[in-house]
Amino acid sequence: MYYPEETVEEVRMKNDIVDVVSGYVRLQKKGSSYFGLCPFHNEKSPSFSVSQSKQMYYCFGCGAGGNVFTFVMNYENYTFGEAVKMLADRAGVNLPEPEYTEEMKKRENHRARLLMVNKEAAKYFYYQLRRGQGEIGYRYLSGRQLTDETIKKFGLGFANKTSDDLTRYLKQQGYDDRLIQEAGLASFDERYGMHDKFWNRVMFPIQDLNHRVIGFGGRVMGDGSPKYLNSPETPVFDKSRNLYGLNFARTSRAGNIILCEGYMDVIAMHQAGFSQAAASLGTAFTAGQANLLRRYTDQVLLAYDSDGAGVNAALRAIGILKEAGLAGKVINMLPYKDPDEFMKNLGKEAFQERIDQAENSFFFELRILQREYHLEDPEEKTRFYREIAKKLCGFSEEVERDNYIGAVAQKYGIGYDNLRKLVVSYAAQTGLVKPVERPRSGVQKKSTPQDHIKKAQRLLITWLTDEPSLYGKVRKYITPSDFTEDLYRQIAEKLFEDLESGQYNPAAIISLFTDEEEQREAAEVFNTKLEALSAKQEREKAFHDILYQVKKNSYEYYSGRLGGDVSALQKVIDGKKALEELGKTHISFD
Ligand code: GTP
Ligand code: MN
Repeated sequence: MYYPEETVEEVRMKNDIVDVVSGYVRLQKKGSSYFGLCPFHNEKSPSFSVSQSKQMYYCFGCGAGGNVFTFVMNYENYTFGEAVKMLADRAGVNLPEPEYTEEMKKRENHRARLLMVNKEAAKYFYYQLRRGQGEIGYRYLSGRQLTDETIKKFGLGFANKTSDDLTRYLKQQGYDDRLIQEAGLASFDERYGMHDKFWNRVMFPIQDLNHRVIGFGGRVMGDGSPKYLNSPETPVFDKSRNLYGLNFARTSRAGNIILCEGYMDVIAMHQAGFSQAAASLGTAFTAGQANLLRRYTDQVLLAYDSDGAGVNAALRAIGILKEAGLAGKVINMLPYKDPDEFMKNLGKEAFQERIDQAENSFFFELRILQREYHLEDPEEKTRFYREIAKKLCGFSEEVERDNYIGAVAQKYGIGYDNLRKLVVSYAAQTGLVKPVERPRSGVQKKSTPQDHIKKAQRLLITWLTDEPSLYGKVRKYITPSDFTEDLYRQIAEKLFEDLESGQYNPAAIISLFTDEEEQREAAEVFNTKLEALSAKQEREKAFHDILYQVKKNSYEYYSGRLGGDVSALQKVIDGKKALEELGKTHISFD
């Protein structure tokens, strides 16, 4: 649903971001911005900022950000169109009928075709499961104790051994080779022509929240490799933002969501009546999935495999859940490997007991940590306790921390006062008032040269937005095409155009994007700052360095494209000249 740009802009201007956000978050003025506790992640001290002059918000803790539309989309789970509508009502703006541009129609159409071809493939697989060649698949599923009703509910199917029957079928239905390939259902090869991606596998259609088939997972018959084969990502299949089974789980009234590792686990759980089970899609659990879950629950129970890999995956998932402000607990699956096996052997009453006894995720982390220490050795025991104290410092709210100190002291037989002292001394040593930084998503990511150059591009845009008068001094060196990141270039195009005409408005630029994630990224581009440099000279040098970096990257980028891209040559020539000039130019802030 889309509205004319002017209308969207009118609605945005009539809804002051500080007013709107204040309806949801308590804000306090600090300097030129307002601060509050971020509603998009769990925090105890405010890192969520709202700028009245920029009409944007940005969280320095979790990176959430955008304009007033993004905020409402994010908070209320609205689409862009719904957010525009709500804010128009709020400000008394009359909206015209929504309009679609040609481009949008095309994109929508393409997505619709991809969904249709997936649905057709799911039907085909489903039908094959009941035919001669599919019998082996059907026997396999029955052997794993799935009932006909379950097979039907999840739309399970079979891809048989013929190498191109699905493709032939889909073509008969009017789908062309390109679409079939784009949906990840087949690939093309000089020697063999079109051939199906999935064969000799039972098929698990993956559905989005609206029960539309967006991709597939296929399990091989027997011991072939890979055991599970999944569709590649496509415009309709984003693995980090969907969960298997969530289309059913979201309406379960269990009050929690159970997160498993495998498709079969989810199915076994649903069959046993635990309709709150979901799983990630053959990849690790992501922050995007945690945010999705937060719409439906505040309590997530992990039912991961009991082996080493499962424990590590659970530890990572716990970190991600915490960051998203969700409480996590861990279900003990022992002596079985996964929920599917547990259910088969001990049944649903026993599983319900395990749910009731699920372990607090902090205790789970401590229990796993403990394995690394020989507690008979006083030296190691002391180190373990110190490690506990360090982790306890992660609770920045005093009451919560104190509750945990009490509980841990009791559980591990440490004197309460001793543990408390240890925590205090640890906190003092590290100057800890803020919570210790949690490793984001488990593993600390190393920054790559690519991250570096993206950051330089963001810094430059933020700088020009904060000090638009600089634009006049650099416009001859820099063009939007120097921003080699697609989204950044789109932003630069609009920003430079606005700066040329003397009236620029970053918050309006954000609503050029209708996707929440793109809006967040755009907000980041306007909110990337260097640590405070006070001396003018330092600032001039830093600015020059950033400008030079961006330009140099662009020069290298287009040099690498000289063969294929006809416009690259001119960019390389101009780039070389600009770099030479920049090398001997001082840009003064006066
Ligand atoms: P079953 O043997 O069918 O019971 O498998 P499982 O459900 O116990 O799965 P397992 O623990 O081996 O894997 C859990 C999930 O990881 C699966 O549902 C898949 O989504 C994914 N997975 C497993 N093996 C592979 C693989 O070889 N490749 C990919 N891409 N994903 C896999
Ligand atoms: Mn299994």
